[in-house]
Amino acid sequence: MRIAIINGPNLNLLGKRETDIYGNQSFDSYLLELQSKYPGVELSYFQSNVEGELINEIQKIGFAYDGIILNPAGYTHTSVALGDAIAAIKCPVIEVHISNVHAREEFRKLSHVSGKSVGSIFGLGLKGYELALRWLIDK
Ligand code: DQA
Repeated sequence: MRIAIINGPNLNLLGKRETDIYGNQSFDSYLLELQSKYPGVELSYFQSNVEGELINEIQKIGFAYDGIILNPAGYTHTSVALGDAIAAIKCPVIEVHISNVHAREEFRKLSHVSGKSVGSIFGLGLKGYELALRWLIDK
């Protein structure tokens, strides 16, 4: 089973960035934990700060893998093109946000991704990625 985690802008700074909101752990260290906990899953990881690169990756993975766990970060709230990319592909996408986007600024309540995803998880910290992964495995 092949699952891809795709993270959007500024998530390369997890562990250093606004730690009161996003926590102290880097994504690289969290990914190692996930990979060792689910050895039966081929779990790939891609992060970019560039909108077009995220879309290219979604298009590439979306016809080849069994699922995508996507945190589009700030582009969630602005990118029609990311929503279109999810609608265009074949594999299921689960939207994950580390923070509770509905408990923050008003602009974070809009997602161009939620309506195109099979489901969304927000506010559960990094654990949200694992919950999404377990859903895809069980499916
Ligand atoms: C985020 C929430 C977004 O609103 C924000 O722009 C991010 C991270 C989250 O994981 O909580 O960069 O996607």
